[in-house]
Amino acid sequence: MKKLYIETYGCQMNVADTEVVFSILGKEGYERTEDISEADVIMANTCSVRDNAEQRIWGRIEQFNLQRKARRNVIVGILGCMAERLKDALLDSEKVDVVAGPDAYRTLPSLLAAASEGHPQIDVMLSREETYADISPVRVDKNGVSAFISIMRGCNNVCSYCVVPYTRGAERSRDWHSIVREACECVEAGYREVTLLGQNVDSYMFEDVDFATLLGRVAQVSPELRVRFSTSNPQDISDAVLETMASHPNICHHIHLPVQSGSDRMLEKMRRRYTREWYLQRVERIREIMPDCAITTDVIAGFCSETEEDHKDTLSLFEKVAFDAAYMFYYSERPGTLAARKYPDDVSIEVKTRRLEEIIALQNRLSLESNRRDIGKRFTVLVEGPSKKTPADLCGRNSQNKMCVWTDGTHKAGDYVEVEVRDCTQATLLCTLV
Ligand code: SAH
Ligand code: SF4
Ligand code: F3S
Repeated sequence: MKKLYIETYGCQMNVADTEVVFSILGKEGYERTEDISEADVIMANTCSVRDNAEQRIWGRIEQFNLQRKARRNVIVGILGCMAERLKDALLDSEKVDVVAGPDAYRTLPSLLAAASEGHPQIDVMLSREETYADISPVRVDKNGVSAFISIMRGCNNVCSYCVVPYTRGAERSRDWHSIVREACECVEAGYREVTLLGQNVDSYMFEDVDFATLLGRVAQVSPELRVRFSTSNPQDISDAVLETMASHPNICHHIHLPVQSGSDRMLEKMRRRYTREWYLQRVERIREIMPDCAITTDVIAGFCSETEEDHKDTLSLFEKVAFDAAYMFYYSERPGTLAARKYPDDVSIEVKTRRLEEIIALQNRLSLESNRRDIGKRFTVLVEGPSKKTPADLCGRNSQNKMCVWTDGTHKAGDYVEVEVRDCTQATLLCTLV
């Protein structure tokens, strides 16, 4: 048996893809290891979304190369978005033996076989059909409670700042039968939560099944199975999806709705296909249909030509929506994107950093306020396991995806428990068992 070690960077989609790779290579006799020093094959499944993500991976490639030099016959492979973006440049570094893009994982067995003969290999062909629908992922997450199910690949939006359409190719939806089957397999294997993944889940369409219908079908797999999904696009999220969420108790009340900016001028330049007003109306609609629904977001500070005025629009939108949580970034120009070709990256790093810090400070307050509003409320929580900070306690998430921690001597990962919130931090609800 050859031993295979994979590090995963980037989004949840990459986590799901790594599980596909373990499955494909498992069938070829590769055994998973978490110890890099005993691995015959060392891989990184990579992300290109921001420059610092790529820099970090270059650092890891240096480390892998040390292993490769110290021990003979070690193969280093780069998978995922950076493989797709940089292609031959990775091989040219002479630190990498195999380069495989996101749609090339079925060829990994032959790429590795040829590489082990001393011939560097590359496959970065993108596909219009590949969804890995027939492959049962080998789950790598350790809690054994929640699993990712990839429901589509690629992206057909061309947000001007974003490299994903270039690294992941055209959008395609996976056969809904295989999605429902995978959800059933998860339940049989003891999982209690699945997250349906796509860059723009609302545009899912296979035959006549749209995302709202798919969501309902997955929810019907088992009342014991919680269903989550990510990512929703403000332009496309439909009332039908919201109504499906409201009518199935096991679909979690949390929507990740990336806004990117609160300024219409920026949104237009970003080629997002909605306005600030539209976004606020979608938020209103979500809260009309599900008053307890958590809303989280992504935002980019300092996009091309962003003024103080634009930035203030972002701050005021955050204040208005009162997001429960947010992922916050400053703009990183990605070569080849529309923004890189058309607009100068003209906001200085000092200004970008300062604006980002202002957004983070605001969101920290909003997160704390959101958690404070939960004090005294009761929630059903799916136990994930021991709390990281206080391992004697248990932790798990409520429907709104907020992390709860409580003292508990009887329950275990995978159980549903009722808790009451007695206190909070900005990141956690501190609870007691009821
Ligand atoms: N499909 C998702 C986002 C995928 S990328 C969506 O449409 O919302 C995840 C997040 O990374 C984006 O929401 C955006 O906030 C951020 N991001 C993407 N490209 C970026 C760039 N060039 N610089 C900084 N942040 C970026
Ligand atoms: Fe990127 Fe936009 Fe596609 Fe999201 S929807 S992956 S931000 S191009
Ligand atoms: Fe990164 Fe690719 Fe995901 S660029 S965010 S790993 S789709």
